[in-house]
Amino acid sequence: MRLDKLLSNMGFGSRKEVKKLLKAGSVRVEGKVVKDPSIHVQPELQNVTVHGENVEYKPFIYLMLNKPKGVISATEDMEHETVVDLLAFEHALYEPFPVGRLDKDTEGFVLLTNDGKLNHELMSPKKHVKKTYWAKVRGVVREEDITAFKAGVILDDGYKTKPAELVILTSGEISYIELSITEGKFHQVKRMFQAVGKKVLELKRLSIGPLALDDSLETGMYRELTEDEVVLLKNHQA
Ligand code: URA
Repeated sequence: MRLDKLLSNMGFGSRKEVKKLLKAGSVRVEGKVVKDPSIHVQPELQNVTVHGENVEYKPFIYLMLNKPKGVISATEDMEHETVVDLLAFEHALYEPFPVGRLDKDTEGFVLLTNDGKLNHELMSPKKHVKKTYWAKVRGVVREEDITAFKAGVILDDGYKTKPAELVILTSGEISYIELSITEGKFHQVKRMFQAVGKKVLELKRLSIGPLALDDSLETGMYRELTEDEVVLLKNHQA
């Protein structure tokens, strides 16, 4: 990778600003001052420093965000705040994007990454990655709904859902449930409850595959996944 591209990607400014840094003799590769922005470096193997500080290179970033209501699961939106708007510059510069979408009024776990391969694998219908949701539902959720969701329900467009696991937390005029699904049709959870005559009032995603939303993350907050969590996620769908 070109040295100026590496430094720019790592947050040391635009290519023009990086050029200035280089010209000033602030950058060393393997201990030697380098002024040529076009030289190629292997950041995984070679030691690059700026003002004597190591440039820690990582090609990918993996973030766990607790999305608040009202925020859009996209990288850009003309009207509304997006999940990417919630990120600090040092993370946004990796240009991560959300893996799958939550509705604007849904809260909870959004995974953001710039790792296209992982995104593809997590989103592949063939991988059946389980996502678990908590929901507040208007209507009495009963044993028969557990059976119906297990068998698959017919959505408003005629699609029959794959087996899903419903756990009733409390049942009443307003019920609280957890639902695990292995697919991601548009408004799927809301439409599944609609199919059994109930209405989702609040929805929060709790987990994606083997990873649960860190309950120390307040809404709107995020953190990087640990290396172990990244491995867990990658192996999960291997
Ligand atoms: N199902 C829904 O209905 N909405 C979401 O945001 C996610 C799953």
